[in-house]
Amino acid sequence: MKVIAEACGSSANVGPGFDVFGIALDAFKDRVEIELGSDYFIVEGKYGDEVPHEIGNNLIGAILDGYRKKTHNSLSLGIRLVKGVPTSLGLGSSGASSVAFAAALLYAGGQYPIDVRSVLELASFGEAYVTGSPHMDNLTASVLGGFTIASKYYDPIRIDPPNWIRILLLIPSKKRVVKDKTRYARSLLKECYPLEDYVFGIEHATTLVKGFLEGDINLIRRGLRDVVATPYRKQLIEGYETIVKVVEKSPAIGCFISGAGPSIAVLTMVQDVDHVHKQLRDMLLDNNLDYNIVESGVGEGVRVWVEK
Ligand code: HSE
Repeated sequence: MKVIAEACGSSANVGPGFDVFGIALDAFKDRVEIELGSDYFIVEGKYGDEVPHEIGNNLIGAILDGYRKKTHNSLSLGIRLVKGVPTSLGLGSSGASSVAFAAALLYAGGQYPIDVRSVLELASFGEAYVTGSPHMDNLTASVLGGFTIASKYYDPIRIDPPNWIRILLLIPSKKRVVKDKTRYARSLLKECYPLEDYVFGIEHATTLVKGFLEGDINLIRRGLRDVVATPYRKQLIEGYETIVKVVEKSPAIGCFISGAGPSIAVLTMVQDVDHVHKQLRDMLLDNNLDYNIVESGVGEGVRVWVEK
């Protein structure tokens, strides 16, 4: 029997929601297959070469160790990871693999229906292994789908974004390989922020949530501004100011650094996608910026099923 799970990549932070907000991306998915009673670890898929093929160096091994320590269950498993989410681009790659594996593992271990907080707890071993911090924003978006509000203390929240939202992802085409990219991007942030930034953050985060709840473009646009991460990370992103200027003049709703970057997510209405896509493509050409543009819808939560 095989237990199979699929989880979407995600854009974390979504402007002011550092480590809290996330949005699932249906353009990219990781898949994990678990075969009980076997013993192998195979990594495949379009982006399979981007992650370690030895289980001891892969986040899958970290999650398995966490599971074994917690449950004293020494399941013997064959594991196949099919990487469909590219790594180190701010697209929730480690989160997607972690969530798919954690969900499949809990199911294989007998938990059905799967409890969301158990998946998050287990998956956070993988996120911590890769990024040095068990933040929950990408994980929560991959578990629940939609626009999400992560929590360390309570059940996470999913909001169904308006069905006309599309995301144009500007993804650097030549990866400037930064070792431990997320750790580095986190190290650029301040230890403490002035009260003024705190107030600004609350105002914008709450505005954004109301915008998503009510499908109000003006509130979403207003709510995307961030003073916690963006000002300190934008220097890592080639052409950031140019991109933002063009987005602001276009019919797009707005944009934000996707997770720790270096990709940028541009939110737009479905009827404006082609127009915005063209404006972005022209801007990239005019400014010699080397990005691919990938269109994504908002993804659904992790899916687990069994094949005999
Ligand atoms: N919230 C995280 C960060 C997402 O911005 O560092 C990256 O994994």
